[in-house]
Amino acid sequence: MNGPNRIVILTGAGISAESGIDTFRSAGGLWEQHRIEDVATPEGFARDPDLVLGFYDMRRAALATVTPNPAHEALARLERAFSGELLLVTQNVDDLHERGGSAQVLHMHGELNSALCTCCETRSPWRATLIDRPPCPVCRAPGLRPDVVWFGEMPYQMGRIYRALETCDLFVSIGTSGAVYPAAGFVQEARSSGARTLELNLEPSEGSRLFHETRLGPASQLVPSWVEEVLQTGI
Ligand code: OAD
Repeated sequence: MNGPNRIVILTGAGISAESGIDTFRSAGGLWEQHRIEDVATPEGFARDPDLVLGFYDMRRAALATVTPNPAHEALARLERAFSGELLLVTQNVDDLHERGGSAQVLHMHGELNSALCTCCETRSPWRATLIDRPPCPVCRAPGLRPDVVWFGEMPYQMGRIYRALETCDLFVSIGTSGAVYPAAGFVQEARSSGARTLELNLEPSEGSRLFHETRLGPASQLVPSWVEEVLQTGI
């Protein structure tokens, strides 16, 4: 029986690695250079806001110097050509999926190019620095923070993601270590709803054994060939 063909894709830092953005947990990755509790928790922000605002200002500036790679572009091709339903969920705070051509991207961990007002809670598109305490475009208070989900905070749009996982036929995880929940639990959620599960990653991840199939290699090669396969033969 042919179902409606629904795919949920989860991406992580590995899909942007070949564009030149450091992953978190590799040797020399971001979490070796900075302590999570200092730059990725509400407590760290309260303790030393300048350190945190400077860290995200630096990452936002670095983002402007990189470009999408063939993996981002292949997922955009899939979005345009796939006749079923596709939900692209990313843990990444970069905008390389959008610049690679994807129109619909769910950023569950927020975005570097967005600021969140700690006074009125409005999320505003943001390209400039935050360390100089600019006013919120809506309420004018100088209380903007990076619109990035920190440890201890709730990721965005979890209800929508779980609904899609419950009804999908295929769940694909790309370039993520499976170390951070809730995203690390998506594979089990999809499996228990009867979906096939596929992992595309450079090396076996913490969750590899949970997938029906794992393909190992760089995302810039694995993702385009998987996308061609889906567009030619279906899921
Ligand atoms: P990690 O740094 O934990 O994992 C990156 C994964 O990508 C690893 O499994 C690598 O083997 C793989 N990888 C590296 N280069 C690759 C390539 N060229 N092609 C394919 N795969 C490659 O990053 P995430 O899993 O995204 O959250 O981390 C999840 C979350 O932890 C992040 O969103 C961030 C971080 O703390 C928050 O800050 C809330």
